[in-house]
Amino acid sequence: MKRSPKFDNRVGYIIYPAAFKDSNDDGIGDIQGIISKLDYLAYIGFDLLWICPLFRSPMDDNGYDVSDYYQIDPRFGSNEDLKTLIEEAHKRGIVILLDFVLNHTSDEHPWFQKALSDPSSKERDYYFFRKGRREGDKLLPPNNWKGFFSTSTWEKVPGDNDDYYFHIFSKKMPDVNWENPALREEYYAIARHYLDMGVDGFRLDALAHLAKDTSFASSSLPPDPEGLVYDTDRFSNRPALYSYLREFNDEVFSHYDCLLVGEVGGNLTPDKALLLSDFDTGPIHMVFNFATAWVNGAFGSLDKKDEDIRTDVIALKKEFLKWYQACSARSDMPLYWDNHDHPRALSQYGSILYREKSAKALCNTLLFMYGTPFIYYGDEIGMSNVTYEKPEDFFSDVGNHNETDVLRARGYSDEHITHYLNRTSRVNSRTPMQWDKGQNAGFSSAAPINKVNGNYLEGVNVADQIDDPFSTLRFFKYAISKRHDPFINELVQHGKFEILDMPHPDVFAYTHDGAKKLVVITNMRPYTVYFSFYNNFSDILVHNYGDVIFTNHVFELRPFETYLLLV
Ligand code: GLC
Ligand code: CA
Repeated sequence: MKRSPKFDNRVGYIIYPAAFKDSNDDGIGDIQGIISKLDYLAYIGFDLLWICPLFRSPMDDNGYDVSDYYQIDPRFGSNEDLKTLIEEAHKRGIVILLDFVLNHTSDEHPWFQKALSDPSSKERDYYFFRKGRREGDKLLPPNNWKGFFSTSTWEKVPGDNDDYYFHIFSKKMPDVNWENPALREEYYAIARHYLDMGVDGFRLDALAHLAKDTSFASSSLPPDPEGLVYDTDRFSNRPALYSYLREFNDEVFSHYDCLLVGEVGGNLTPDKALLLSDFDTGPIHMVFNFATAWVNGAFGSLDKKDEDIRTDVIALKKEFLKWYQACSARSDMPLYWDNHDHPRALSQYGSILYREKSAKALCNTLLFMYGTPFIYYGDEIGMSNVTYEKPEDFFSDVGNHNETDVLRARGYSDEHITHYLNRTSRVNSRTPMQWDKGQNAGFSSAAPINKVNGNYLEGVNVADQIDDPFSTLRFFKYAISKRHDPFINELVQHGKFEILDMPHPDVFAYTHDGAKKLVVITNMRPYTVYFSFYNNFSDILVHNYGDVIFTNHVFELRPFETYLLLV
């Protein structure tokens, strides 16, 4: 679908509410905390917020397990607080996307409770219940599928029966059955409720998985040591997904001026992305895919050495180009380096040894590509991964907890697991936002869920950076102001995009060719490299070093040096 002009030329910001700002000192970030920081966000130039789930939840997966879609979780505030947030954001020209979880509910949701207690209820068919397999007197799950959080996709229903229910995430997150029209109506009603309240759109969580192979036949792919098979095609990007969303669009979305961003994960091909987001025929506006995350090989890096983790700059450029070429003429696209499901971008593609330079370089490189950029909270001050000491420090992520159980059973040491989690865990990006040098980095006076990153004492905080014209934060503000410039926006959205010197192993450079040429050149390495450039540039719009080294048409690029040029 084509988005309305209301959503053009915006720069997004992703908030993980539990870790952003705590207004009442209970250690949990909340809506009033977000409201108190709207002026800050507007000052830096963010005008589109995606806020991770705020609904009532037992927090098994930090709010992605919803037990009441119509209530704000009391930890985050009240329904009134949400209304105030929307009003206050709109006053500042900021639009709000809520994170809407459609693939599963909490097991504590009344629908699921009813489904459990009364197998003849209509809610029973809101979920997937199947009989286990009997082998002798052993009862086994209905099939061998493994889910995203290191367990079987089946959990036994308590009591004297052979029943199991299906869940691709944690066992406290039963998947809902989109084949059931009454279930679909429930979700339409929820969406209308929030759009009528004034919410500007949704980030649609785990969207890829709404349709499953409901034959639930075991997979014949090779099993893991526990006998489970991680065959995500059985519950990802399946044909029925597109018809569900077309109906959702007809029933709800097409009646509102809203923005819809689907999270569609791995294994997605551009043609499938377009089935969702094509200007003319797609039911939503844009899809997040994971193609540009993890291009340093850290994903699944349990048995890799640190030296083996290195950004493959050519592969990264190729991914951006591939998606641009396939989708840009027919679809809006989001841009991001990281979010609450990934380690910090700075620790992935940048370097803590060049924190300020690399945070700026990543910002500049992302911001001027075609699409709508989404910056993850804290990246604007250079936040990076944690260095925790034991697996338990990561257990606020149920996925990490389950994975640790499996790895310990396979014989891995805690030291090995901790090293791996420090590199890959989602908890890396869920630590408190670093506001100042005060207690817990000014996030809260009470102990936060995830320990604060100690680097807030070394300048990685808002207060130290906001008045320093050379800080990472002020660089973001300046670069975002350029991104918002209508002339630049026109070049970015409609100029002809090309990667410059694709085979260069260290430099990420591109151009948009329109009324003028806009050029980004970034050294992605922590050492000096050279880059040939045969144009004369008229203007240096953005740069993260004090002087320019350009001789005989060659740039000498120091560690993580980045330019935005006008030619
Ligand atoms: C999405 C969310 C992730 C969550 C999962 C289950 O991938 O981004 O945080 O764990 O869905 O809802
Ligand atoms: Ca609080």
